[in-house]
Amino acid sequence: MTVYRKLLPTDLNAYRDHLLRLSANDRYARFCGFKTDEAIVGYCRGIDWRFTIMVGCFVRGELRAVAELRTEPKVWPGEGELAVSVEPGFQNQGLGSGVIQRILTVARNRTVRRLVLICLISNRRMQAIVRKFLGNLESECGEVIGRIELPWPNQMSLLQEALDSGTAMVNGMFDQWSGGPEPEPAAA
Ligand SMILES: CC(C)(COP(=O)(O)OP(=O)(O)OC[C@H]1O[C@@H](n2cnc3c(N)ncnc32)[C@H](O)[C@@H]1OP(=O)(O)O)[C@@H](O)C(=O)NCCC(=O)NCCS
Repeated sequence: MTVYRKLLPTDLNAYRDHLLRLSANDRYARFCGFKTDEAIVGYCRGIDWRFTIMVGCFVRGELRAVAELRTEPKVWPGEGELAVSVEPGFQNQGLGSGVIQRILTVARNRTVRRLVLICLISNRRMQAIVRKFLGNLESECGEVIGRIELPWPNQMSLLQEALDSGTAMVNGMFDQWSGGPEPEPAAA
């Protein structure tokens, strides 16, 4: 089963392991530069959960895609920087769009008004997703900067987040049950 949900500090090791499973090219695309395993471990350790929102996609209990939104309310009020990662073997199946769609709702409900995303010029897939969510793209110094403007929250966006959280909880429970041991055959 595929479960989308917000990540918690207790998911940190799952996030680290997810980033470590990215291929060298995908790591480069995700961070717009090379990252060694040690650098990824350090990056995860440095996450400030007060200012970071993450939505992950779990496939059969394993974290396979994450949208990470970093905010800095004092420096850039109302803005956040978005980054996305989907593991090889799970790309081009809608998981990236799925985590982005959900994090847009969460960000909107936290009164973030603009998301900024930096990707490589060659990253056509990421650019297609930014366009799909009505963002605009500008190239600058060998990179592309995507910007997605968000409206103020309303009842519908709050309801949507509540529905997403409820669905995640129910699906998570089904996932645990379906992943459990086979039931013992009934005695004759
Ligand atoms: C970029 C990335 C996040 C996309 O996630 P994904 O799950 O593979 O993407 P999705 O399946 O949700 O959507 C891909 C979209 O790109 C389109 N697409 C795929 N290949 C394309 C190409 N060569 N040119 C243009 N569009 C393309 C698809 O049609 C789809 O659009 P649609 O939903 O409107 O049909 C993922 O591939 C990834 O993690 N890459 C490595 C890290 C990275 O590049 N991160 C982004 C920088 S932060």
